[in-house]
Amino acid sequence: CAPGNAPTPAPEPAPPDTRPEGTFTDRWTLQEALQLPADTEKTAQTTMPLITSWPQGAQKTLPDQWVWDTWPLKTEDMQIATVRAADGTPYYVLIHLSVDDSVLPGARHDLATLRYSYSTDGRSWQPGGYLFPEGVVLGSRNWAGSALLKADGSVEVYYTATGERDEGPVQGPSSVLERQQVGDVQGPLTADGQLVPQSGSGFPNEGGIGFEQRIALADGVKAEVVNGRVVFSGTWKHRVILRADGTLYQTVAQSDAGPLYGFRDPWAFRNPADGKRYVLFTGNMGGLKSQQTCQPEDLGDAAFRAGLGALNAEMPLHNGAIGLAVETAPGAWKLLNPLLTARCVNQELERPHLVMKDGQVYLFFSSHIGKFAPYGDLRDRGEEGLYGFVGDSLRGDYTPLNRGGLVLNTPLTQRYQSYSYDVLPGGLTTLFVDVPGIGNQDISVVSTLPPEEQRAVFGGTLGKTLKIDISGRSTALVSELNYGQIIP
Ligand code: FRU
Repeated sequence: CAPGNAPTPAPEPAPPDTRPEGTFTDRWTLQEALQLPADTEKTAQTTMPLITSWPQGAQKTLPDQWVWDTWPLKTEDMQIATVRAADGTPYYVLIHLSVDDSVLPGARHDLATLRYSYSTDGRSWQPGGYLFPEGVVLGSRNWAGSALLKADGSVEVYYTATGERDEGPVQGPSSVLERQQVGDVQGPLTADGQLVPQSGSGFPNEGGIGFEQRIALADGVKAEVVNGRVVFSGTWKHRVILRADGTLYQTVAQSDAGPLYGFRDPWAFRNPADGKRYVLFTGNMGGLKSQQTCQPEDLGDAAFRAGLGALNAEMPLHNGAIGLAVETAPGAWKLLNPLLTARCVNQELERPHLVMKDGQVYLFFSSHIGKFAPYGDLRDRGEEGLYGFVGDSLRGDYTPLNRGGLVLNTPLTQRYQSYSYDVLPGGLTTLFVDVPGIGNQDISVVSTLPPEEQRAVFGGTLGKTLKIDISGRSTALVSELNYGQIIP
């Protein structure tokens, strides 16, 4: 520059675009995840009580069904919804992934169907039957989602349509005709009556049936109370509203290595900050999985990176993402950048959902021990449990709650006792009883047992609800409530 003139200052880096439709994506970095407490450091703040018994027979959430992922009917502003009877009595509604309990527990994902139950006290549940009793449900089976009761009484159910109808050796119970056969289906068994061994996906029977996941919406009905039962009157209309695009979110074809991809678990809400409707979901980072690499921003700050050991080539096969989509016009949905990614940290950020409190956005999700990336002792620190972050807006940036993001972990002696946590307003957290009856063995070991033992060690029912306190950057487990309780 000319003598006497001040040098032109370097342009300030643009601030990250943290509008909901912005480009900023927060990371669950390796540096943060290595803050997760080691076993000796886990305390009562996060450790769930041991499950020593679980309802059997008629006391199960649904008497003749296995039940796992479950969600309540909510209002668009994230509160528990009530359907009013003519006399004003409020009814609560739960929607469940379910399958006839003659099916072996490990095969349930291949046959999952939505059923519902209802309650006047938010604790004791009456079976309502199939959520979609007739018509063409999308997918060969249905995985998790969410459901909204709108001000006019109409209902929207967001769900995962997995696989295609009419494919593979096992048919999902997607139509009345197929459902009639479900009681006979024992899941994919070998000649000697064992489950077909699992592949790396964590789901049995991969290869036999498709695992493409699409986000679907069913609407067209109203919720009503008729003769003391909640019913959905009208005809459900189903359509796919979101598909993985391959750029922001991995497609099934791009899931060419490592564990199975995700594009599922839609959680719909209206954002109070801008009044728009959004869906959060479980995804993976777009692009061919086998060609992804750990990037500096996935790992941590410069000092942390300087001290890193060798990176295992399998680390980038773990590239979980919490996806976001916005409704741009009634019925039209658009994918946005992920809210949070976890490349080289974790493969599956399941059932993401929010709690808004004290002007903060709390982002929760479930993950499994086996879904953490292989680095140092990360897989020992990672737990079967509930994880969470806090941010000052929908797009963050987010800070891990507690240490490294751990909100609830299963007891160290019974690591697979429960899963699929849903934090409701007020901190009530529902879960299902998974395989408490077999110490520290997971479902892949359970699947090698004789069929009757498999059924005996599996819960397949809602467990006792937990209450957590949420405040600032931390949470604490406070108490254990009733089975399936959603109202304090
Ligand atoms: C969590 C989960 C969900 C999925 C469902 C499939 O328990 O893996 O992500 O929707 O189970 O059964």
